Amino acid sequence: FIGQIDYNQELSSTNNRGLELAREQSEIPIATLVLTERQTAGRGRGKNRWWSGEGGLAFSVLVNCGALKLPTSCWPKISLTTGLAVCDAIEKTIEVGDAKLKWPNDVYLSGCKACGILVEAPDSRRARVVIGIGINVNNTTALAPLELRGHAISLSDIAQQKIEPTEVLIQVLQQLAERLTSLARGTQDLRRDWHTRCLLTGQLVEIDLDTRHLIGVCHGIDDNGALVLETEFGIERCLSGTVSDFTS
Ligand code: BTN
Repeated sequence: FIGQIDYNQELSSTNNRGLELAREQSEIPIATLVLTERQTAGRGRGKNRWWSGEGGLAFSVLVNCGALKLPTSCWPKISLTTGLAVCDAIEKTIEVGDAKLKWPNDVYLSGCKACGILVEAPDSRRARVVIGIGINVNNTTALAPLELRGHAISLSDIAQQKIEPTEVLIQVLQQLAERLTSLARGTQDLRRDWHTRCLLTGQLVEIDLDTRHLIGVCHGIDDNGALVLETEFGIERCLSGTVSDFTS
């Protein structure tokens, strides 16, 4: 799956580097791994920053969507698909009850965020997508910025021992290759798995859309990757948006 590795000891953001490669290179392999020891300005969705504390694993995969047969219609589902790959990889690496997907781009363990995913494309004409993945592997979450404390968790917090980051990376790349192949084939397993792994099911969820704010009980994630909410006005299916709050 990985045909090229772009390693830099320090980067502002592996996604920035991935986007740069996507724009500059005329030919790219199926997948390029962008890896760094230290990410100094990791980005999250919107204006959010990503906390790249020591012990964290931050990398991006530049995907050749033409070679993988992923048309632009599939792109909105890449984030959830990647989330499933990360859940699978974590469960293969440490003993953990259930890894959950917090729609649309986070992985939660024991009710706290362990991974964030940021999918970006330089432009839709080039059939190239950068999948950025940040996983709290050995980070000391007690040293996280104040606003994250109590909301972030690392794999080593769960396992109570240091985890080998390379093992996590290899697992994620293997699972990602499988899951992206399923996405290209349009198989049923993805739809089933993102529905069963949905963290928000049964919870009262608040979500910010472009022009609206919705509150409703979550009924999982539908076949298109939309979050299904039962609101006072009826069922709403959200294909994009930001979950601002949720309570069970
Ligand atoms: C989020 O939580 O909103 C998404 C966070 C994504 C973080 C990863 S770390 C590797 C890659 N490079 C970045 O700048 N962001 C992603």
